Amino acid sequence: MQPSTLITDHSSLITAPFLRACRRLPTDITPVWFMRQAGRYMPEYRAIREKYSLIEICHHPEIAAEVTLQPVRALGVDAAILFADILLPAIPLGVGLEFAKGEGPILQNPVRTLADVKNLRPVNPETDLGYVMDAIKILRGELKDIPLIGFCGAPFTVASYMIEGGSSREFLKTKTMMYSDPQTWHALMEKLSVVLTDYLVAQIRAGAQAVQVFDSWVGALSPQDYQNFVLPYSQKIIQAAKAEQVPVIHFGTNTTTLLPLMKQAGSDVIGLDWRIPLDDGWKILGGDVSVQGNLDPALLFAPLPEIKKYTHDILRRANGKPGHIFNLGHGILQNTPVDTVKAVVDMVHEYQGN
Ligand code: CP3
Repeated sequence: MQPSTLITDHSSLITAPFLRACRRLPTDITPVWFMRQAGRYMPEYRAIREKYSLIEICHHPEIAAEVTLQPVRALGVDAAILFADILLPAIPLGVGLEFAKGEGPILQNPVRTLADVKNLRPVNPETDLGYVMDAIKILRGELKDIPLIGFCGAPFTVASYMIEGGSSREFLKTKTMMYSDPQTWHALMEKLSVVLTDYLVAQIRAGAQAVQVFDSWVGALSPQDYQNFVLPYSQKIIQAAKAEQVPVIHFGTNTTTLLPLMKQAGSDVIGLDWRIPLDDGWKILGGDVSVQGNLDPALLFAPLPEIKKYTHDILRRANGKPGHIFNLGHGILQNTPVDTVKAVVDMVHEYQGN
């Protein structure tokens, strides 16, 4: 046996189906987890939210760890995702963050000029976001054989919140900066890619066994603009995380036309939303990446036989090929029935290829 084979072939050592699928290794079952699997649709989460705000939960590692574990216990999913938010790094950057009731995130000091970018504070994730690493360390002690996913927002999606000052439909301020003041845009993306890289690497070093980079809103861009204004920065984060030897998942919505460029960003797994059939998306990406997805979260409000039809359709399109992780095409919606989510986990695990 060649020594290099011994060093590079870890496949027999990886046992968790989720981690195996990230590496395109065969699994007995299709692994399944859900974006936003912890949250207001769960009564256990609502009970904690009566006492603590979202940011308070994140700031208390024991509570963040407890909330992370709630869906693992209730649903039987194959991976846990750290309870945090993609906007937490905005706090030490000095942009401010609050979650107003019913309005989503509000960033009090939006970034609009080069001076604003220069005023962003330096961030040391180990100290400024140390509470996230503490939650990861607690979770690794509790989770046993269920892998823990860490995450960050991709620079485009985080920048869009920082520029708009909150959620947006048109991304007009974001695009105006991109087109009218590219120097400021690139300075902001450069700054964010450094901070987000350090943050993600810190999570891995604290114990995250896989990471997901959320570029939820990047589908607002054309391929050309993605290439010029986004790709180099996302690439930098993904490469740095991969160098830490953990699988990287890269997720966005409305990305059908961006998939070939997202592939160039270099992740091991690409998340697909429901707008593209899973096999069509996988074909565009090629056989050398894994795919995650892609049930429409709205389907979880449908009757079970209908959900089963769609779930089996996705599994049929994956066709038992190693490298499929079942998930939704975006996060679980509020008021989703917990029993239905659990039923989907069972449907995926019980699927026999019929
Ligand atoms: O997936 C998980 O279970 C882990 C936790 C998690 C949260 N946010 C907690 C949260 C994750 C992975 C995120 C990522 C996140 N946050 C994204 C990317 C994923 C996506 O959904 O596109 C984005 C864009 C954000 C920013 C954000 N945070 C928004 C727009 C909102 C308000 C919208 C809403 O659902 O109310 C949040 C709040 C937020 N983050 C909640 C949770 C559980 C809402 C629940 C609450 O207020 O208690």
